[in-house]
Amino acid sequence: MTETLPGAAIPNPTDEAAITAAVDQAIAAIAGAGTLDELKAVRLAHTGEKSPLSLANREIGGLPKDQKAVAGKLMGSSRGRVNKALADRTAELEAQNDARILLEETVDVTAAPRRRRAGARHPLSTLQDRVADIFVGMGWEIAEGPEVESEWFNFDALNFKPDHPAREMQDTFFVEPPEAHLVMRTHTSPVQVRSMLERELPIYVLCPGKVFRTDELDATHTPVFHQFEGLAIDKNLSMADLLGTLEHFTRQLFGDEASVRLRPNYFPFTEPSAELDIWHPGAKGGPRWIEWGGCGMINPNVLRAAGIDPDIYSGFAFGMGIERALMFRNDVGDMRDMIEGDVRFSEHFGMEI
Ligand code: PHE
Repeated sequence: MTETLPGAAIPNPTDEAAITAAVDQAIAAIAGAGTLDELKAVRLAHTGEKSPLSLANREIGGLPKDQKAVAGKLMGSSRGRVNKALADRTAELEAQNDARILLEETVDVTAAPRRRRAGARHPLSTLQDRVADIFVGMGWEIAEGPEVESEWFNFDALNFKPDHPAREMQDTFFVEPPEAHLVMRTHTSPVQVRSMLERELPIYVLCPGKVFRTDELDATHTPVFHQFEGLAIDKNLSMADLLGTLEHFTRQLFGDEASVRLRPNYFPFTEPSAELDIWHPGAKGGPRWIEWGGCGMINPNVLRAAGIDPDIYSGFAFGMGIERALMFRNDVGDMRDMIEGDVRFSEHFGMEI
């Protein structure tokens, strides 16, 4: 016995009306299939082994000879119609599917890209780099020294007498234990002495770096800030070379109208010493003289401490603050903005990354 679908009577393969009804049913189901999955189920129900048409087809073998040919012809064309309908609907649904995928996966090459927010380098870093580039352009080298410095390099070798007020507790961070005689460097000038001890003469070096003083953080003070130190040691260097170097440098940094003015001052490690003012054409609030740093001819005592004969060699040095330059160049009124690390502050200076 052949299995039949529950409740489905096996149509007689010679009964044209019954077979046509089965075909019509199959074609209606095929047309009604909305997806390839639905169509798969319809295919199974109407052309599978247990479908009415397949079952009817099997009956042909048992028919009397004279009916076999008629039934065979009827079943062949009927199943052919159903298969054709299936193939057509499959093609249709596949085409719909392809169209949908094309639409869903469309790439709009003209669409604005989703941007990842880029950071921005801190203006203290970019300004420091620009300063260094100018000196490297003049053939100078970049020197470095430690931030935790021995008292000897920070003070003694720079001709600070033991009772100099700058050594007092209110200016200097001393590093424990006291017997180690270590301080957080209060300026970049100790790199002068280190460079003189480590390098061959003549010396032309620039040292940018962090320095530390026991100031409370407020709008105009910060306990950690940046300086850059210049040092030149050669034969026959004079104050004119110092002035010429500073003039060239400030013009490179602030434009051709920038200029330099020196006012007498005192530093233990330079003699003569000067306060350095610059004429800043682009200063916010109008062009004006701005006090920027210290400079002078290297004190012979410092040359001697570094083993250099002051009768043969002379030199000059200068030291300026980076934060201060940012304040007058870009009108930054509050130092705290420079150290908070908010990228919106850095972005104002352009997106150097
Ligand atoms: N080190 C000095 C300061 O921090 C600046 C300076 C550097 C002065 C070099 C003269 C020569 O104030």
